[in-house]
Amino acid sequence: MAIKPHGGHLINGFNVSFPYDKLTGEIEISAFSLANLECIASGAYSPLKGFMCKADYEGVLYHMRLQNGLVWTLPVTLPIPIEKQASIHTGSKVKLVYEGSVYGVLEVEEIYEVDKELEAITIFGTKDSNHPGVKRLFEESSIYAGGNVTMVRKPSRIVPYTYYLTPEEMRKAFEEKGWRTIVGFQTRNPIHRAHEYIQKAALEITDGLLIHPLVGETKKDDIPPSIRMKSYEAIVKDYYSEKYTMIAAFPAPMYYAGPREAIFHAIVRKNYGCTHFIVGRDHAGVGNYYGTYDAQLIFNQFSASELGIIPLLFEHSFYCSKCGNIASIKTCPHNDSDRLILSGTKVRNMLANGERPPIEFSRPEVIDTLIQSLQKEDQLGSSEE
Ligand code: ADX
Repeated sequence: MAIKPHGGHLINGFNVSFPYDKLTGEIEISAFSLANLECIASGAYSPLKGFMCKADYEGVLYHMRLQNGLVWTLPVTLPIPIEKQASIHTGSKVKLVYEGSVYGVLEVEEIYEVDKELEAITIFGTKDSNHPGVKRLFEESSIYAGGNVTMVRKPSRIVPYTYYLTPEEMRKAFEEKGWRTIVGFQTRNPIHRAHEYIQKAALEITDGLLIHPLVGETKKDDIPPSIRMKSYEAIVKDYYSEKYTMIAAFPAPMYYAGPREAIFHAIVRKNYGCTHFIVGRDHAGVGNYYGTYDAQLIFNQFSASELGIIPLLFEHSFYCSKCGNIASIKTCPHNDSDRLILSGTKVRNMLANGERPPIEFSRPEVIDTLIQSLQKEDQLGSSEE
């Protein structure tokens, strides 16, 4: 029997024939909100049927739970321009518009004002606007609209559309493959050797591996999804057993909320049908805002039954030249000087300068696709200027 979705059943909020033409009210939404709209409508965020009203929002902030008691750790809210506040009425339906096209309809249940500093401190643990999640939050309005949504059009795709499986479609795919236990892997980076090591360790004790890269909005210096996707295809082709591995796109945006986002990522992957979820070092972290294992420790605050999905927690892993393989402090007795540890920023800088990170850090095929794609992008960028 497949794992139960969060809250018991999957939400389906898509209706391309929804009659929205006669609606007069409209709200311009951001790329971040559009990505969340899609995740609500696809059932990825089940049991959410819409953007949060105040009771759920406060439940998430103060107790990491929805009003009904279900665990939920990130606010899924819709900021609206302050000048719209007077013209949007509770009980009405309004169009949700992104770059001139209508993508959804919101049944306005509540309009409320929030304290963004409080939200920043509670969700991100900081109000430092150098934090990309805090920066985004502070740039948005502090007036939120809550209510159920219907999605009337799918957003344009930045990676091949066949990768966009809804939770229902993903569950069907797992069933067809005969996988009963599936480990989900969240990433916003190209797969390096340490990623590969923890994925394959997890696959040893499950039936299948879902590589589920986030392709919604990320910060500007993260490698774009279209380029990352090519690198995932390259590594899976040459180093993974295709029979036991699947790649699909996770259309959510990145919050960079570390521990809270790790719980959120796990619950959402449960909705997609995963039974296990990988949490390694500094999951969904950025800079030095969170401790290396904070995103693992937060799992102690919830019971196994209320999460439903099993977290697989991995130590920080690295290449050790004495061991001659990837290892962690649990499996390698050597010294720091024997260990190769490269930060994401260092690797991005190397790639940007056309330098190849060492093969102990990354498979050469991955580096080839990244360098090629990044150079192509550079050429495009410079010819557009
Ligand atoms: S994330 O923001 O999506 O979490 P990233 O793509 O870097 O970032 O990480 C994907 C997953 O791999 C996360 O669970 C993260 O904790 C884990 N991870 C990344 N690097 C390592 C490492 N060197 N050792 C162990 N786990 C790691």
